[in-house]
Amino acid sequence: MKHVTWGAVAAMVLAMVFVGCAQVPPSPQVQKYSDSELPVPADYKSWPKFLSDVQRADVKQVREIYINPTGHSTKMGDEFPNGTISVMEIYKVREAADGTPLKGADGKFVKGELSKIGVMGKGAGWGESVTPPELRNGDWVYSMYMADATTKAPDNTATCRACHLPLTDKDYIFRYDEYFQKRVK
Ligand code: HEC
Repeated sequence: MKHVTWGAVAAMVLAMVFVGCAQVPPSPQVQKYSDSELPVPADYKSWPKFLSDVQRADVKQVREIYINPTGHSTKMGDEFPNGTISVMEIYKVREAADGTPLKGADGKFVKGELSKIGVMGKGAGWGESVTPPELRNGDWVYSMYMADATTKAPDNTATCRACHLPLTDKDYIFRYDEYFQKRVK
């Protein structure tokens, strides 16, 4: 009788171990990206808009900025969480024959062709390999692509870092306040 009970206990223990193993998924292998490696996510156009129709008269551009759902869940005042990705489309402004930028009836620039696509993303430890360390923007990394979204643009990512760097209290995001103010809650 006794050895039967032990057999049953052993079977139960084995069953528990087995179920326990099945319930613990292997820790997800999160890929680490450095500058110029982070790709343009294929589905970014289905993401929430960060800001639309950003008018850049100084460089004759219109910009469309998207943020992934992870970033979009952020509350004003907080940093964007790891896993946030922002994609910025850079469009040329259409020009008259004499080079004057064209404006529509709404007073906004007329969007021309897409020229480049910029990406910013953050993940745990992504910024650690950045040299020189003074150019670290927390754990953000930067990539810039041509309009086909795969050909790397010639931009040096040190320039991205240097320009975004001063925005330490806005998590390195220029239009941080504008985004949270305009965002449809
Ligand atoms: C001279 C300054 C400057 C440089 C250099 C620069 N940026 Fe930005 N970036 C901005 C500004 C300003 C914005 C906000 C949108 C706007 O006003 O055009 C912005 C916005 C962005 C955004 C949208 C998210 C956000 O931060 O608002 C991405 C993505 C981005 N930049 C990527 C890049 C990448 C990649 C590079 C380098 C290849 C780069 N930037 C270089 C000034 C800069």
